[in-house]
Amino acid sequence: MGEQVYIFDTTLRDGEQSPGVSLNTEEKLRIARQLARLNVDVIEAGFPVASPGDFEAVQAIAREVQGPVICGLARANYADIDRAWEALKEAQRPRIHLFIATSDIHLKHKLRKSREEVLQLAAAAIRHARQYTSDIEFSAEDASRSDINYLCEVVEAAIEAGATVINIPDTVGYAVPMEFGEFIGTIRQRVKNIDQVTISVHCHNDLGLAVANSLAAVAAGANQVEVAVNGLGERAGNAALEEIVMALYTKRSFYRRETGIKYDELYRTSRMVSSLTGMQVQHNKAVVGKNAFLHESGIHQDGVLKERTTYEIMNPQLIGVPQETIVLGKHSGRHALRERLAELGYMMADEELDKAFARFKDIADRKKEVTDLDLEALVKNEIRIS
Ligand code: KIV
Ligand code: ZN
Repeated sequence: MGEQVYIFDTTLRDGEQSPGVSLNTEEKLRIARQLARLNVDVIEAGFPVASPGDFEAVQAIAREVQGPVICGLARANYADIDRAWEALKEAQRPRIHLFIATSDIHLKHKLRKSREEVLQLAAAAIRHARQYTSDIEFSAEDASRSDINYLCEVVEAAIEAGATVINIPDTVGYAVPMEFGEFIGTIRQRVKNIDQVTISVHCHNDLGLAVANSLAAVAAGANQVEVAVNGLGERAGNAALEEIVMALYTKRSFYRRETGIKYDELYRTSRMVSSLTGMQVQHNKAVVGKNAFLHESGIHQDGVLKERTTYEIMNPQLIGVPQETIVLGKHSGRHALRERLAELGYMMADEELDKAFARFKDIADRKKEVTDLDLEALVKNEIRIS
């Protein structure tokens, strides 16, 4: 198949920046071990300078978790970089991730620095980090709102200084897919030696477009996508890992790109992150939501029972979803009822099924969901068990 798209997971860094989420070191280690089983390429374990707890967690993950690259975030200053390295240095494959903003709005109001000063700071920070490791990621924060000519200059300087991964964040989720794809295309065309580095994107979901923007960037040549499990992250979150991975897989004849993800670990990873962060997954969330593979209407149930692919574009078993796909309610049809009853061991003749179906509809009018217990009671009361 096609060229690899690297999956950079930032659940433990940007994901932990979700309002209301705070994980201790043991919880982060458990998630990091699961991310390694899922086979992500990079685990961004935290922001070591941010707090002693963050430092300790990054260090523990760096010491223990083998396989993926272990990455720590740092601002483009020597103190942050030194602290990040201290936490990362025992990793089998360490990466320092440096960032500085490049948009005029951030330069003017936040950094209070000129464009030239920021460019020099970025290059100096990268050179400083290079003395520790050759795996250096540079992020131009708020890239999507930056002047493209200036952004290209900064990216070129970052590559010259030794960055090996260039990350183009849509920090405030401002981009739209066609625009963001073209943006990546322009950077690829204009920046000298860009083909010698990994091009990464990091999209936020403020307009609900993080996944779409990331995929547009992949189509335009990006080869690393930064994601978080269940789409966690600052404000409305980051691109959801499971959605990116399953979009690339399901539409592989379009994208022609591969990931190394073990698909059957996706559902378990989502459940674990949800329970440890306390961030519930919305029922209709794509891929891992409770309803993602449930079929309520009779027409859909009938179709799925005849042939799964009539209404399912992904196989829930591939993702590791436990096999309970049909929910019985007032829109359900006879076919679904017959199948569920058969699963419960009640084989119905047509006449018996008619009676059971009428009774079932009565119950369904009163209850949103008719459970297996309801069905058993219904059968025992009304129908002869064959
Ligand atoms: O959203 C952002 O720009 C970030 C950077 C630190 C990569 O999280
Ligand atoms: Zn971010």
